[in-house]
Amino acid sequence: MNSNPPGQMQPELAETAAFSQAFEAWEGAACAADFPYAPVLALYQRLGKHFVPEPVTDSLNRVRKDHGPVARAPRLRAFLDCALDKRDGRYDYASYCALELLEFPGHQSVALSPDEVARQRDLALLALLGDLVAFEWHALQGQETRLPQMRPDAALAWKRVQRVLAAMRPSLVRLRWQNDALPGKIDPQEYLDWRQAMLSDEDRTRMALSILPVHVVHDEYMFLRTLQAFEANFAWIAVLLHGAIQALDADDGRALQKLEQANTYLRETARLFPLLGTMQVAAFHDFRRFTEGASAIQSAGYKKVEALCRRPDAERLNSIAYAAVPAVRASVQNGQHTLEDAFAQAKERCCLSAPILDGIEAEMGHFAGQLLRWRQAHLQLARRFLGEKGGTGYTEGVPYLASVKDIPVFQTVVARS
Ligand code: HEM
Repeated sequence: MNSNPPGQMQPELAETAAFSQAFEAWEGAACAADFPYAPVLALYQRLGKHFVPEPVTDSLNRVRKDHGPVARAPRLRAFLDCALDKRDGRYDYASYCALELLEFPGHQSVALSPDEVARQRDLALLALLGDLVAFEWHALQGQETRLPQMRPDAALAWKRVQRVLAAMRPSLVRLRWQNDALPGKIDPQEYLDWRQAMLSDEDRTRMALSILPVHVVHDEYMFLRTLQAFEANFAWIAVLLHGAIQALDADDGRALQKLEQANTYLRETARLFPLLGTMQVAAFHDFRRFTEGASAIQSAGYKKVEALCRRPDAERLNSIAYAAVPAVRASVQNGQHTLEDAFAQAKERCCLSAPILDGIEAEMGHFAGQLLRWRQAHLQLARRFLGEKGGTGYTEGVPYLASVKDIPVFQTVVARS
């Protein structure tokens, strides 16, 4: 039933009309830098990716068909890949989370100094989780129109804001408060004003483009930003593990520092679980109806970390766990070097001092212990939110996670608490 006053379009239609107008105007000159992202996003966030009408996705697809060179500009290409994944039948975890648009660090970041790694990683979290604080805070004040369904009540929303801030507390200490004591509770508005000044235009653009929910349930915003924050952490941890392997190969004691830093980030990552615990179960099941086919079993970041620690056993490598991440599986099959091997070889050469080698072994043990705890926390989350239901990645769900949770992180180094 149309409850709008006569003559007034439904909001959905108003947003579709705004999109069509902007898009037609853009097609005249069709320049990548002027692409009308804002009306596309307004429409996607108003309806949910799953419900965007075909004429709209046809128009977006026309960019790729008729304006080839423009559509190959990296940012526009990444955006269209994420926005049209369902239309193309390519929808998966990476496109759901818009990972390509977030431009996480790759192998080239291995050369960065520890301070620069810390700064870039903390800023990435500030961008992602800070945007979540802004969304929740504005919704709490009645100033947010996006994803309007199943808003949490004020008590839950406030708890969530405090948990996001708690999750990023170590980054806040490093970026802002440094040696000063951070107040027990952070004032969200003060924090948002400060964050605004810290971020670059590039960060802001990345944040604006990387929210393409499948539906319009409020909690999906938190789900997406939290997944992205986990992925940012995995990406930086992989950079540090690569760095540690390179250092070990060169008998360079800085491998120890890299592993300490990787451990710090893995420990801090666990702070995201209590935040996810504020998700409303009914809200999760509501938007999950449209996420079939996108599962974090396809997280290349997580599997990269796992496979950098040691070569997975044949059984795991040939299972759905690695079928879901073909590029990572190919690296392993091509003989990717691992931390476990690099450490064993360094020990044999005996060029590093005994205290350094012992320190490295201890850090590896702590890393293994933390990853096992990460899996346990994840399993508990899945139990709570899924119960008996299967996963969106086509496993049987909780029984699958229970069967993989104790796989040793290293074969030759014992996990420590
Ligand atoms: C309510 C939240 C969540 C639920 C219910 C859930 C559930 C599941 C399930 C059932 C699987 C098995 C694959 C499948 O069939 O989909 C899985 C795999 C996985 N999930 Fe989650 N998950 C949740 C949140 C997360 C988060 C926030 C992350 C962080 C990135 C994550 C990372 C992973 C990873 C890495 C795997 C692959 C594990 C492996 O293959 O060993 N999950 N999850």
